[in-house]
Amino acid sequence: MICQTLPMSSVQISPSILSADFARLADEVGAVPSADWIHVDVMDNHFVPNLTLGLPVVEALVKASPRPLDCHLMIADPDRWAPGYAEVGAGSVTFHVEAARAPIRLARSLRSAGARAGMALKPATPIEPYEDLLGELDMVLLMTVEPGFGGQKFLDVVLPKIRRTRQMINRHGGSVWLQIDGGVAADTIERCAEAGADVFVAGSAVYGAEDPDRAIQALRAQAEAAGARLA
Ligand code: DX5
Ligand code: ZN
Repeated sequence: MICQTLPMSSVQISPSILSADFARLADEVGAVPSADWIHVDVMDNHFVPNLTLGLPVVEALVKASPRPLDCHLMIADPDRWAPGYAEVGAGSVTFHVEAARAPIRLARSLRSAGARAGMALKPATPIEPYEDLLGELDMVLLMTVEPGFGGQKFLDVVLPKIRRTRQMINRHGGSVWLQIDGGVAADTIERCAEAGADVFVAGSAVYGAEDPDRAIQALRAQAEAAGARLA
């Protein structure tokens, strides 16, 4: 197992390489030194109607990336496939609860393989049935677009769920990270931070920018300022 350093700051930015140049992935992950994580969207054309990359590419990226990998698995049967991503050294592995048969067992196997365990919810999936699972998790990912593609419009309708999830996490002691993924950009990140998110995935807003690293710095400053207004 390869160990990757874990970031400590409260606002974290995880740029998604879905919007990067797939022919130059090593260069693209090297172009964002301000990132806390590198978000890797694994899609299998079953759970979502799109196909990206899988375990061999992730294994190569673990070695090429200066930052730990945050693998978001949009795949069917994560019970079978997700632990492999932890075993090759991804720092965080997130499965979709809609696809998992045994989410508690799966989260435990991710942790015992050395990764942080994340659980993702599509926009219309409620968080309430999963409150008792928080102790098994290191992160909850709330999708703010339907999973499958980058560059979609942020779904404001998810904001109340972000607030409720933050309250739930705080009741449990606050150690679970709350990640938002989909349509996060300069015009939406403050609303997410004010609702209680602390880890922000951004694909097109980072890799579509002229200077991806500066885009990360600007998004972080916005999220920190919005969080400070809350405190
Ligand atoms: C979508 C992926 C996202 C995607 C976000 O299903 O999970 O991580 O890359 O892209 P943007 O930030 O462009 O919405
Ligand atoms: Zn994602």
